[in-house]
Amino acid sequence: MNIAEAQGLCKKYGELIAVNNISFTISKGECFGFLGPNGAGKTTVMGIIYCFMPPSSGHVKVFDLDVTAQSRTIKSRIGVMPQDNNLDPDLSVLENLTVYARYFDIPGKTASLRAHDLLDFIELREKSHVNIKDLSGGMQRRLLLARALINNPEIIILDEPTTGLDPHSRISVWNQLGKLKSEGITLILTTHYMEEAERICDRVAIMDSGSIITVDSPAHLMETYSGNLEDVYLKLTGKALKDSE
Ligand SMILES: Nc1ncnc2c1ncn2[C@@H]1O[C@H](COP(=O)(O)OP(=O)(O)OP(=O)(O)O)[C@@H](O)[C@H]1O
Ligand SMILES: [Mg+2]
Repeated sequence: MNIAEAQGLCKKYGELIAVNNISFTISKGECFGFLGPNGAGKTTVMGIIYCFMPPSSGHVKVFDLDVTAQSRTIKSRIGVMPQDNNLDPDLSVLENLTVYARYFDIPGKTASLRAHDLLDFIELREKSHVNIKDLSGGMQRRLLLARALINNPEIIILDEPTTGLDPHSRISVWNQLGKLKSEGITLILTTHYMEEAERICDRVAIMDSGSIITVDSPAHLMETYSGNLEDVYLKLTGKALKDSE
């Protein structure tokens, strides 16, 4: 079953074509990655899937619902870990979760129980009452992941989930994503990291300048083009795919 699909999706910002006539399908329970360099259009595609902004043209369905006409229902069933840290610096770690739960009309007691469970999941329970500014960058990324899970989403959108993290924190996020996937949650992510795509994605869409060049499993791509994903990207686009760091 397709949990998300796009047909002929285009997104323009004024004259700039950020996403240029792309089509894809994402199956329930898979980890699907959008891979591409800065400006390829990855965040724009994410924003359309989670109904943050409408397509300029084309059709996008999530849970078989139209992203423009049925955005409210889609948003209630989706979790989002944005590329930029938008935690509330005036609230504690715990409050960032419980206050966010209000957007989903989750009753206070349920929200508090859920928030504590999520703090255990990301191993930050002992930081419940500290200010956001007193968390390390890696801890803030993990809290963003926990916040994305507050409404028990069926799909989680992860826009560069591990960018800027040290190798240890990156592996810890990968392990958490693996656990979520084993629970049947669909993961849709963007990344610049070859290793991330290879380790956690079932399939990747290779993007360049708003277009999808190909969609395939990392293993099959590497076999077909005899190299790692960086080599694959170079062979497909003629460009180097550099890490963002
Ligand atoms: N709100 C906006 N207004 C105008 N142009 C935008 C806006 N958001 C993105 N763009 C442009 O659209 C193109 C695609 O941007 P997008 O953020 O989707 O790329 P990305 O693949 O996520 O890049 P990165 O890896 O740097 O996060 C870029 O040329 C960008 O400058
Ligand atoms: Mg982006």
